[in-house]
Amino acid sequence: MANILSFFVWILILKTCYSLWFPEENGIVINNSSCSLSAVPKYLPSHTQILDLSQNNITEIHIQDFASLHWLKSLNLSSNKISNLSSDFFRSNQELECLDLSKNELSSIECHFLHNVTSLKYLDISYNNFLSLTLGKAFSFLKDLEYLGLGSRKAIKLQKNDLKEISGKQLQEISIGLKTLSEYDPGSLQVLRTTKLHIVLPSTNKADLLERVMDDAFNTSDTLKLSNIECYQECSHYINSFKILGKFSRVSKLLLQNLALDWKDLISISKPIWTSTVKSLSFFNVTLYKMINSPFQCSETTLKALTIRQLKITLFYFSSTIIYNFFATLMIENLTISNSELLFMTCPIKGNNYKFMDFSDNSLSSDFLFQDCQSLNLLETLILQQNKLDRLFKVSTMTRSMKSLKNLDVSQNQLTLDENRDCLWTNSLIKLNLSSNRLTDLVFTCLPSSLAILDLQKNDIYSVPKELNNLDMLKELYLGANKLVNLPDCSNFRNLQILFVEANSFHEPSSSFLQSCQRLTVLNAASNPFICTCHLRDFSRMKENSHIEMIGWPESYQCAYPDNLKGTLLKHFHLSEVTCSTTLILVIVLGNMIVLIIVIGLMCHFLDLPWYLRMTWQWAQMKRRAMKTDSHQVAEKLVYHAFVSYSQHDSCWVKEQLLPNLEERGSPLRICLHERHFIPGKGIIENIINCIEKSYKSIFVLSPNFIQSDWCHYELYFAQHQVLSDRSDNLMLIVLESIPQYLIPSKYYKLKSLMAKKTYIEWPKDKNKQRLFWANLQAAIGIKLTAPTEETFV
Ligand SMILES: *[C@@H]1O[C@H](CO)[C@@H](O)[C@H](O)[C@H]1NC(C)=O
Ligand SMILES: *[C@@H]1O[C@H](CO)[C@@H](O)[C@H](O)[C@H]1NC(C)=O
Ligand SMILES: *[C@@H]1O[C@H](CO)[C@@H](O)[C@H](O)[C@H]1NC(C)=O
Repeated sequence: MANILSFFVWILILKTCYSLWFPEENGIVINNSSCSLSAVPKYLPSHTQILDLSQNNITEIHIQDFASLHWLKSLNLSSNKISNLSSDFFRSNQELECLDLSKNELSSIECHFLHNVTSLKYLDISYNNFLSLTLGKAFSFLKDLEYLGLGSRKAIKLQKNDLKEISGKQLQEISIGLKTLSEYDPGSLQVLRTTKLHIVLPSTNKADLLERVMDDAFNTSDTLKLSNIECYQECSHYINSFKILGKFSRVSKLLLQNLALDWKDLISISKPIWTSTVKSLSFFNVTLYKMINSPFQCSETTLKALTIRQLKITLFYFSSTIIYNFFATLMIENLTISNSELLFMTCPIKGNNYKFMDFSDNSLSSDFLFQDCQSLNLLETLILQQNKLDRLFKVSTMTRSMKSLKNLDVSQNQLTLDENRDCLWTNSLIKLNLSSNRLTDLVFTCLPSSLAILDLQKNDIYSVPKELNNLDMLKELYLGANKLVNLPDCSNFRNLQILFVEANSFHEPSSSFLQSCQRLTVLNAASNPFICTCHLRDFSRMKENSHIEMIGWPESYQCAYPDNLKGTLLKHFHLSEVTCSTTLILVIVLGNMIVLIIVIGLMCHFLDLPWYLRMTWQWAQMKRRAMKTDSHQVAEKLVYHAFVSYSQHDSCWVKEQLLPNLEERGSPLRICLHERHFIPGKGIIENIINCIEKSYKSIFVLSPNFIQSDWCHYELYFAQHQVLSDRSDNLMLIVLESIPQYLIPSKYYKLKSLMAKKTYIEWPKDKNKQRLFWANLQAAIGIKLTAPTEETFV
């Protein structure tokens, strides 16, 4: 046992150490970028996998610098001053997949060291001091290569066989910096096989050089990116070279990046593209420094999509209508203009083909955009993310005539809805993204009933109102990062399947939730301040008791209160059924009490329990007294166990019940009766006193008859007197028939007080009880008598 335990302890220790040595699952990442290093740091952890030494002043590296890093996967040496890498480098770095040597001072592009790292997927050697781009034999061994970056800062020529070594390889992307190109042999680029080709165009005004490069570029890959089109003075060489782009090129996606030109040149450059093989045209980072209007007709175009990102206009005054009218007349399907400070957009001409429009990250406002625009009836997707839209009502009226609009994204604006109003949405809308706005609970009064997906994250919603428009089509509802205090009720969206309510403010989500959300399959309620009390039990068990997938469970569901449970996972929070159900406690307690009461009641009713209890108590008392009396040796002059006083009317009972039971059963007792034992010649009173004195107890048989009899009263008086003078407790009252208090004359006050103290035993009419009665009586008077009997008197 101890061995097994210590074994586990060892494993635990080993595991802990291991995780200290290797803190990240993906290995150690060391970022020494921009640290002004002049050499590779010594003693790098041998398990380093990702090492960034870019943007330093490293001039020389040594073979032993990376010799111990057998697990190195990625090495970035970009922007240093390395001028030489011998063929022995990276011998121990067989795992290397990514190597960035761009922007250094390497002069030989032979790169013999590549023999050692044939698993490279990513290699960038652009912007070095190569004098030619004739790739060495080593490149042909890079069997897994996906990306290659080439180029030089020095004036270079690109010759026919320069790229021969990689000509057989299908790559994903090749980027070639030809800014300093001075000569180009036609066909040099066409040997490449790559999905994406990026060419940084020569900064030259030699039109023929540019044309030769572009001609090849257009026929090499499907996706072509061309950077560096700057024409501050003259642009005709670019305009002419684009004219080559005909109907037979290979390019279907064309990206133009880093342009600086005027509007007229931009239109001229793009004109041939409009009727080429290009389906998708994108402009990234365009600086317009002049706005000269240029008439543009493009009724026939093969282009489907136009994207413009980062359009800057450096003019103070410019006629923006030129730009707006241009887009309004385009016959394309997709238009994206983002991050371009767009203030407005005109309604496109009738018969346009727009299906998709993305104007994210601009300065559009809701009051003017596409209000009363009747021509966007093919539009399916409109993205207005991150603009200056502020009135939701206006957004709804904008969509009214967009008969095909399915998807509207107006997230990250400043939308509000200041009153309860019926908004005028198009009834085709399926997905609406209203996240990151300033909407309150009122938003639910302004939603189209056709919605299937609604995103209301990051707003100011406190609750989902119960009475709201019918949203029966809704399948996905995102309400994360609001101020909800409870889970919404699904009665208004009965088909809801996905609900996100993470990072809200609810403490004790109501348990009725699940009943109303029958179709739910995914729930994210993570990161709420849960109060772990009985109310939360149903919720904390939801994961076990339903088939709902809970996002973030269990780690993001924690108790926030009470303090002793803070941080406890809901998964580990358990309270028993009994602790939590007040009704259950009440039922148990009340149930037990009712059963007890019923049992007692039944016993009282059928068995006369109180009577038995009282009799048993008296019997016990009498036994105790009798024993005490025994031990004290009762006076020897006693002849009888008891003297019985009764009314003549009760003599039947005395003779038929009392005498047989006391004198004949068990140990026979001696009973003195005045009619049996009266000594003739003596007065009645003398006889009574004699009898009382010689008896251990005086038994009075009480009944209404007894009260009537004066003799009996005398007898009682004497017996009582005896109580006072001699023994303390020789008086016994048997109530044969109950005597109402008012029947007892006031002169019998002694009797009254005795009766009031209830120091009597009742004669039970029930036969079963009579045996206990006799046993009781026998116990009370059954002592041992030593004196002889006075039978002689009879
Ligand atoms: C290398 O570092 C430079 C500068 O920090 C960065 O621009 C480049 O993307 C990095 N290369 C890779 C392959 O991550
Ligand atoms: C136009 O946009 C839609 C929706 O984003 C997209 O699926 C389609 O591929 C785009 N078309 C082109 C030619 O880029
Ligand atoms: C809504 O837009 C935000 C960005 O603003 C995005 O993160 C979120 O995924 C979008 N919601 C849906 C449901 O697509």
